[in-house]
Amino acid sequence: MKKEIRKKMVAGNWKMNKTFEEAEKLITEIADALDEVDLKGAEVVLCPPSIYLEMATDVAYESNFKVGAQNIYPLDEGAFTGEISPLMLKALKVDYCIIGHSERRKYFHEQNDFLSQKVDALLKHDIHPIFCCGEILPEREANQHFEVVKKQLEESVFHLDEKGFKKIVIAYEPVWAIGTGVNATSGQAQEMHAYIRELIAKQYGAEVAKLTTILYGGSCNGKNASELFSNPDVDGGLIGGASLKAKDFLLIISAL
Ligand code: 13P
Repeated sequence: MKKEIRKKMVAGNWKMNKTFEEAEKLITEIADALDEVDLKGAEVVLCPPSIYLEMATDVAYESNFKVGAQNIYPLDEGAFTGEISPLMLKALKVDYCIIGHSERRKYFHEQNDFLSQKVDALLKHDIHPIFCCGEILPEREANQHFEVVKKQLEESVFHLDEKGFKKIVIAYEPVWAIGTGVNATSGQAQEMHAYIRELIAKQYGAEVAKLTTILYGGSCNGKNASELFSNPDVDGGLIGGASLKAKDFLLIISAL
């Protein structure tokens, strides 16, 4: 029997950036470069704005990366003006979707119970959630960061059965590190990732915990990626700003 191993991953969250032309150029540059790279089982995921998903999956079809969305509404269809559904993503062959990003929590007031519905809606269509968790600065300063992350996981993903949970990728993104140029130190990242893995082990057992991919996100770039990824519990990164330039993003991939 083939032994399951934990997947390493670098995912690019483009957020609300790039015109169509720019998006196509960036995706093509990354795809071309990845043609020459042996990812050794690691996965590269590009998460462009939703209107570029079809173009991205077209390129991905003949290339070495997967495509992720940045958000969904947790129903298959209906009167929800402006939203997109997991059913629509599935039809485009989108494999991943970011859920619970701090920007969705902050600007769109998304809370843990709503995020749990999104997780369920994605799994119904076999799309892998990249579930983001992480504390804001005052919470870290008050030494509440472990509690905060625990609650986010408990209320949005730990209701899943083992089969469902095994499809999830966790991304630890301390909010104070996102877009600030101040990344978590290697020690802070490892400490939280080990804690998250411990929580998963308590909930689902050591074997599931060992197989869960846990990404770090927050000012990760070509300079700090190697050190962050060298930690035993850091399995790659969810990259914002540095995923918008092919050269920077490829440098991060090479740090895996
Ligand atoms: P930055 O890499 O720009 O800090 O953003 C991280 C992020 O939010 C990825 O989801």
